[in-house]
Amino acid sequence: MVSESGHRPKTNKLIAYIEDRLPIADIKHIAEKKKVPLHRHSSWYYLGGIAAILFAIQVVTGILLMVYYVPEISAAHASILKINSQVNFGWFIRSLHSWSANMMIFVVILHLFSTYFMKAYRKPREATWWSGLVMMGVCLAFGFTGYLLPWDDVSFFATKIGLDVASKMPLIGSIMASMLRGGDLISQATISRFFVIHVAVLPLLIAGALVAHILMVQVHGISEPKFFAKQPEGDKKYEKFFPDFFFKDILVWLLAVNVLFALTMLFPWGLGPEADPFAAAPIGIKPEWYFLAPFQFLKLIPPMVGPIEGELFGILLLSLVGAFFVFVPLYDTGHSESRSKTATAVGIIVLIALTAFSIWGAMS
Ligand code: HEM
Repeated sequence: MVSESGHRPKTNKLIAYIEDRLPIADIKHIAEKKKVPLHRHSSWYYLGGIAAILFAIQVVTGILLMVYYVPEISAAHASILKINSQVNFGWFIRSLHSWSANMMIFVVILHLFSTYFMKAYRKPREATWWSGLVMMGVCLAFGFTGYLLPWDDVSFFATKIGLDVASKMPLIGSIMASMLRGGDLISQATISRFFVIHVAVLPLLIAGALVAHILMVQVHGISEPKFFAKQPEGDKKYEKFFPDFFFKDILVWLLAVNVLFALTMLFPWGLGPEADPFAAAPIGIKPEWYFLAPFQFLKLIPPMVGPIEGELFGILLLSLVGAFFVFVPLYDTGHSESRSKTATAVGIIVLIALTAFSIWGAMS
């Protein structure tokens, strides 16, 4: 707006300057046009945003940790000790990074299942689903590679077990495990590789997938679950993405960040004794909670199942479940009621199995 004296206020000048160069009005128009369906399951729509804010926290805290962390077997553990005890707020940044990583994986798993049960993978959102699966895999890989970096006894032996299991995968398993290790043993080569994968390869992968994911969500808008879509048009309720849903999103982020800060401060992340590759593995060693379910499941399988080695058989079964989640948008397209029911039933069984095996693994 131009004032009587002919001057534009500063903020208007700035907006006009930007609008002359970038299509701000178009972006605002898209955000205002986007609407969020209001129904009894609408709260699940907040999970993607919570995952995104936790990811942002991971990037910032990760960069800060890199300033002091040394990816060498002779110095890694000492550098974490220094971060914990000598660097100002070092313990806080490290604890924030670890808690936020765990919270992010938990939230992403919930987001995966909520979009699964709402059938949001169906046309036209197949690629949104697949980009999400890529990010789920990347999040788990972040957890696996990051766990070794402090080089304490638990992280060393948990990584050893993880790589041993991975090496049993058919065809690529042993080559992949050997490439990750940089040989037959966990050594300096392993920590160098895990560090590069953790701070360069995975961030690039997730950034690409995240941009694609969010762009597709903007283009397609939020999906409408069937029970909502079949209501008469007049009965359906929506709210505008901008500003209504967006400001609630910010409120939910604040709540999530509060929970994260409480965990960070009340339960600062610990550090075990330095890894000794020649010592015996600590008794009852377990992987992180998000790998407990497959770990526990594989422990149940006898050494041989018919002519096949037990662990290989278990890995093949788990791969089948994974494949179902990859191909579900092509299987359950929304045209067959029986396929829709099968997909829901598989989801329920997998969710119950995941929860039960994780609890069992944690308690045993
Ligand atoms: C770092 C991980 C992820 C981030 C930051 C993220 C972010 C988001 C955001 C902000 C939305 C829009 C709001 C919402 O529906 O929650 C969304 C939607 C969606 N996400 Fe994700 N997501 C991630 C992982 C995943 C995973 C693992 C899957 C499943 C394999 C997935 C599948 C979807 C689908 C299908 C939608 C569309 C939902 C709809 O239209 O109703 N996302 N995601």
